[in-house]
Amino acid sequence: MERKKFLIAASLAAFSVSTFGRVKISNNEFKGDCATTNDILGPFYRPDAPTRRDLTYEGLTGSVIELQGRVFKSDCVTPLPNALVEIWHCNTKGEYDNKSKNFYQRGKWFSKEDGAYTFKTILPGKYLNGILYRPAHIHFRVTEKNSQELISQIYFQGDPHISKDPWASNKNAELRTLPITLKDVKGNLAVNFDIFLKDKQ
Ligand SMILES: [Fe+2]
Repeated sequence: MERKKFLIAASLAAFSVSTFGRVKISNNEFKGDCATTNDILGPFYRPDAPTRRDLTYEGLTGSVIELQGRVFKSDCVTPLPNALVEIWHCNTKGEYDNKSKNFYQRGKWFSKEDGAYTFKTILPGKYLNGILYRPAHIHFRVTEKNSQELISQIYFQGDPHISKDPWASNKNAELRTLPITLKDVKGNLAVNFDIFLKDKQ
């Protein structure tokens, strides 16, 4: 094969295996490259946040969202129950609760039989990182007994601060930059984030 055609064929082959998703390799086995990518932990993680799915409280300002998704195994299709999903984020003033015993905007929840987890919280505000605002984001830490720990963040589509943020603008954050959708006829908002964990090595 001449060199040019070979290069085209080789790049197409590479594309077909690097496309996000799953490939069935036998009746019951799937293989894929769906693993959720890591992001930085950041300086504001606190262990031992309460087990609760509702992070809203009286007097809290901000747009309430239902943050929901499912946790899956590395084959991209098998749900993972009992995965510990921890989230933390800032309030609309860009502040984290780093001290109080109320652990505001922090919580953890275990995925159910079908891998589902859900939190009710608000869309976070923004805070300065040097001279630039970080785009709005929610931090995640996900642990499960047979899987590698995932430390990650989600971002929101259309956020003007994404392009200059080194982490949110990274190619591997694309699938974690999510739409905010209308959940029902009452104008409630939802964000869906499915999480795919890598097997423990
Ligand atoms: Fe943060």
